Amino acid sequence: MKETPSILVTGATGLVGSHLVDRLVREGRFVRALVRPSSRLTWLTPHVQRGRAEIVTGDLSDAGLIDRICRNVDTVYHTAAAVDFSLGEAVVRSVNIDAVRILAASVLKNRVRRMIHLSSIGACRWGSEPIDESTPLEAVNVYEATKMEGDRFLLAAHERQGLPVVVLAPSAIYGPRARIVIPEMLWYLRKGWMPLVDGGRRRLNMVHVSDVVEAMILAARVPKAVGRRFLIGHTESPTFRRIFEVMAGCLGISPPFWSVPGWAALPAARLLTRLEWLRAPFPLDEYMEYATRDAVLDISRARKVLGYEPRVNLAEGMASTIEWFVRQSPEWTGFEVLETV
Ligand SMILES: NC(=O)c1ccc[n+]([C@@H]2O[C@H](COP(=O)([O-])OP(=O)(O)OC[C@H]3O[C@@H](n4cnc5c(N)ncnc54)[C@H](OP(=O)(O)O)[C@@H]3O)[C@@H](O)[C@H]2O)c1
Repeated sequence: MKETPSILVTGATGLVGSHLVDRLVREGRFVRALVRPSSRLTWLTPHVQRGRAEIVTGDLSDAGLIDRICRNVDTVYHTAAAVDFSLGEAVVRSVNIDAVRILAASVLKNRVRRMIHLSSIGACRWGSEPIDESTPLEAVNVYEATKMEGDRFLLAAHERQGLPVVVLAPSAIYGPRARIVIPEMLWYLRKGWMPLVDGGRRRLNMVHVSDVVEAMILAARVPKAVGRRFLIGHTESPTFRRIFEVMAGCLGISPPFWSVPGWAALPAARLLTRLEWLRAPFPLDEYMEYATRDAVLDISRARKVLGYEPRVNLAEGMASTIEWFVRQSPEWTGFEVLETV
């Protein structure tokens, strides 16, 4: 490992982590990237070849390794997480809670200047009213519960031990390289099997990955951000109907026309996923869970304290995202429908 002070990015092969590394390297920073033995290094390798990044292979649960990679590091961006519900509770808890504790201890021990932690708005109680940082936390699934516990632990560690952490809680993140949300939406849309829930009237705040990266960079710079939690999203929270209209427009297909009532959403998702002939590669449970609630955001705190302004609107962000998916080779995403686009 290099001895020069650098930046540590966990989850460097994921949606946010990989875009963050691209941005940091563009700004002339040297990045240390934590990856797993099984991680795909497609986007990291060019940076390593140009001497702008180094790769450390291992798992977040390895306390000795985490301690070593936090040495000579100025800023830790913690984007790694278990975001897939199907991994099971033990895995999700170990990545989203235990590993957060390990990383926080290493940050303190190695006197890292700042730790930027990515949480999720999923940990807030959603409703028809806009949510902000004062909205009570309330998790409806194990992923959100673990993100909520991670936030609480980190903010308490700031209070008790002076952990220099900033917690950012983004809404649904989309963009090229997305592994969740966009792939399943695209797949069911293309097949003509994407159901609306309650006529698609619920709202979902979606934020482009480049805006999340911008918020992370600001959070690392602004002194007043330390010890605080910020919701990160867009100023607009479109309805699901609008989101699908935009996506369908990009694909040149009709938007979804059939709808299930909220109470039937989960059973319908499970039925669709099990239909043998549909051969659905993605479960729809997560989408259905979100499509029955409103996620409307008030991002005033991030705007005021961080100077954050979302720049990418849904129409342009979705167009470039879908274009990227369409260009991708199917073996990378398991997204075989794109071969025919
Ligand atoms: N995507 C969203 O809509 C969304 C919304 C709100 C908040 N967030 C939060 O934003 C953050 C980034 O999400 P994302 O969408 O970028 O996730 P992602 O694309 O699924 O990437 C997750 C990253 O974490 C790594 N990882 C997982 N388990 C690990 C372990 N045990 N040890 C080391 N690395 C591990 C993965 O490595 P591999 O490449 O090896 O799998 C991958 O690089 C997460 O904290 C997530 O909770 C995401």
